[in-house]
Amino acid sequence: MSARISAEVAATPASGIRALANAAWAHPGAVHLELGEPDFATPGHIVEALARAAHDGHTRYGPSVGLPALRAAAAEKLQRDNAIDVPADQLVVTAGGVGGLTAAYRTLLSAGDEILVPDPGWTNFTTIATMLGATARGYRLVEEQNFRPDYDHLATLAGPRTRAILINSPANPVGYQWSAAQQAELGEWANRHGLTVIADECYDQLWLDEPATTFAAAAPDTPAITVFSLSKSYAMTGWRLGYAVASGPGGAQLTQALARVQEATASCVSTPTQHAGIAALTGPQDCVGQMRAAYRQRRDLAVTRAATLGLTAVRPAGAFYLWICVPADDTSAMALQLLRDTGIALAPGGAFGAAGRDRLRLSLAAAPADIDHGLTGLAGFLATRSSP
Ligand SMILES: Cc1ncc(COP(=O)(O)O)c(C=O)c1O
Repeated sequence: MSARISAEVAATPASGIRALANAAWAHPGAVHLELGEPDFATPGHIVEALARAAHDGHTRYGPSVGLPALRAAAAEKLQRDNAIDVPADQLVVTAGGVGGLTAAYRTLLSAGDEILVPDPGWTNFTTIATMLGATARGYRLVEEQNFRPDYDHLATLAGPRTRAILINSPANPVGYQWSAAQQAELGEWANRHGLTVIADECYDQLWLDEPATTFAAAAPDTPAITVFSLSKSYAMTGWRLGYAVASGPGGAQLTQALARVQEATASCVSTPTQHAGIAALTGPQDCVGQMRAAYRQRRDLAVTRAATLGLTAVRPAGAFYLWICVPADDTSAMALQLLRDTGIALAPGGAFGAAGRDRLRLSLAAAPADIDHGLTGLAGFLATRSSP
């Protein structure tokens, strides 16, 4: 007799990005531009802090909400970099941003509930909901208005089972970054509809033009859980470290609920890793600025090169992706064909929602030569397809 899988898990699709990445890993010599992962090494002082913690015996369980020193360091960082005052005890340490998002979804959604998510938006915004037996409904963004939500569309989506709305700035996959006014507008809308906001700010330090504003500062009167991560800012994707912050009315209850979720699902985040996190947040910050400068340089190179090649793409204001418009109804087949013909791996836009079906996403977290090669190869590939 075979094991029975839960209906929720059975209904959760594999990520369309992973499907392409698996094909790319099987393709010898592929140029990997499909995944969003810094190509930098984790800064040395962070690595040393982990080794020291392990050698010094910091290898036991810690509090489910995180080590007090890390919560204090994160609260200080939020004051320093995000201009928000959050008491350290209103902050819960999580296994990366995805751990924070999962805890936030679990805190707010029961089976049958609904959450509004941006379309296009990161794949897990939908799959985490499906896994819980909840439904994610994609809301449209208006490109001409700096990817502000289409509020008329939003109004048609909010129903009696809607509990929350997710926002993401700086955003994956498009690279838009909302202004404080846009965040405040969304906060007012959420209040009017009785919704809690989940703000994904995992790319908060990867702004490329202007520092990113934080939802909790722009909309302090809206109940919100904001999710931060060390993955992208400090090139720590494999370490699995982030934190979630509750703000607005009922913030204290939200924190308690998040803490219960952590207790039931994670016990705590790896203790040596949390020590490394303290070193990251309290140590020298020039590594963050240096990586940001490198991403900015790559963004500028990619935008210029794409324009020269006749490719239409959104100029990202934050995060590290180039969202490219291509003449196709569904780019999942095209991305596989591109890989087979040229060895270039790009993420199919449909993986991020219906609005991405005619797009491809190129990761700028790659060597400039690879970015150049990827764009040139894509332009050549599209030219061959369009010629009679
Ligand atoms: C928008 C967004 N949020 C959250 C994450 C999760 O990252 P992590 O769990 O490594 O912090 C990602 C990863 O790509 C992302 O793109």
